[in-house]
Parts: sequence; C-alpha cells; structure tokens
Amino acid sequence: MRTNFQSLQLFLFSLCLLLGLSKPDPDPIQDYCIADTQKPQAVYVNGAPCINPKLATPSHFSTSALSKPGNTSTKFGFSTTPTNIINLPGLNTLGLVLVRIDIAANEIVPPHSHPRASEVTTCLQGTLLVGFTDTLNRVFSQNLKPGESFVFPKGLIHYLYNLDSRKPAVAISGLNSQNPGTQIASIATFASTPGIPDEVLAKAFQISQQEVKIIRRNLGG
Ligand SMILES: *[C@@H]1O[C@H](CO)[C@@H](O)[C@H](O)[C@H]1NC(C)=O
Repeated sequence: MRTNFQSLQLFLFSLCLLLGLSKPDPDPIQDYCIADTQKPQAVYVNGAPCINPKLATPSHFSTSALSKPGNTSTKFGFSTTPTNIINLPGLNTLGLVLVRIDIAANEIVPPHSHPRASEVTTCLQGTLLVGFTDTLNRVFSQNLKPGESFVFPKGLIHYLYNLDSRKPAVAISGLNSQNPGTQIASIATFASTPGIPDEVLAKAFQISQQEVKIIRRNLGG
C-alpha cells in the first residue's frame, strides 16, 4: 500500500519528468506576432514586441534572404544566413528558424553548439561529413549527399565538413528556436573577451602557454 506521501512523491517526480521534456520556445497565444523592429526596444520581452495584427501583410511572412550564397571568405571558410525577425518578422514567437549554410571547398563549420535548439540539416549540394558528440563523448557522424538529412540534438557539439576539394557545399538547417544561440568551441575557449587565462587553457588542453598563445593568435583572440 502506498502512503499519500509516496503517491505525492511519485506524482511530483512524474511531473518533473514531463516538464523536463525538451521544450522549444514558448507557444504563441495568438495567430502570429509580427516583430516590430522599428522602435528602439523599450520593454524587454521574450522575443520582439508585435505590430498591430491589422497591419499584417503577406510580405511579413516571406523572405528571399536564403536565396543567395553567403560570402565564405571567412576564417573557417563557411557562411550562415538565417531567417530572423528582421528579414522575416512573421516568425517572431513561433519558435523556429531556417539557416542557409555555405561551405567553401574542403572547409568546415567548426565544432559548435546551440544552447536553445535542436537542428536538422539537409544537404542541398556537395558531400558533407556531419557529426555530433554526445555527453558520453561518443561521436555520431554520417556522410550526406544532396537530399539527405541529419539531426543534431539540442545543445550538443556538432560540425559540418565539405569533403569536396573543388566545389562549395550548401545545406539548409531548421532549428526549433527563433534565437538558437551559437557557441563555436574553439572561439569560446581561445578567442573570448576577456580571454580565459593562459594557464587555465594550458592545463585544460595539456599544452604549453606558448602553444596557447599560438592558437589564440590563429583564432584572432
Ligand atoms: C567576401 O568577403 C571578403 C572578405 O571580407 C571580401 O574581400 C570580398 O570582397 C567579399 N566578396 C563578396 C562577393 O562580397
């Protein structure tokens, strides 16, 4: 026979489990909330304030932002172009974004994580090696050809590598937050502001402080 106390404990435990299920951004409590990006933000809300729904037009719900390749003349040779509340104000509060990813020949999107979103990526062009590391430090990876998809669970470190040595690769990713956040592991550790002390990084990576300085310089830290 369970005591009332045990039943209460079981109930609270079940509730915690249910509430702990991976949740995307909060549900909207109206059809839409077209981001008002005109006024300087005076009131801080979880998302951007909405315009008057009577002023909504189809253009608030469409964008060609992802139609053009991004400029991959960057440090790691990749570029990301997201939909956001500026180029697609109708997605405000809906809990999702789409990102175009361009990667130059043989270049990478270095290991990084999104603290607020899971991601499913689809290769549109080229051959991509993609993978993520779980919290047991196991790596799950796959080669993707055009039309093939891979999912990166929320918060886990993942990477994309364009295996083609001549042609750029293109992928498109959906993420279940309107503001997924991105932390590139190498930049967050070696090129932060202010810097993490050399001796901390030397111990963490089991290298000399001289080597820490070299990595910092290479990453622009
Ligand atoms: C891409 O970026 C590089 C470096 O910032 C710049 O020199 C180049 O002109 C850009 N290319 C295009 C097509 O915008």
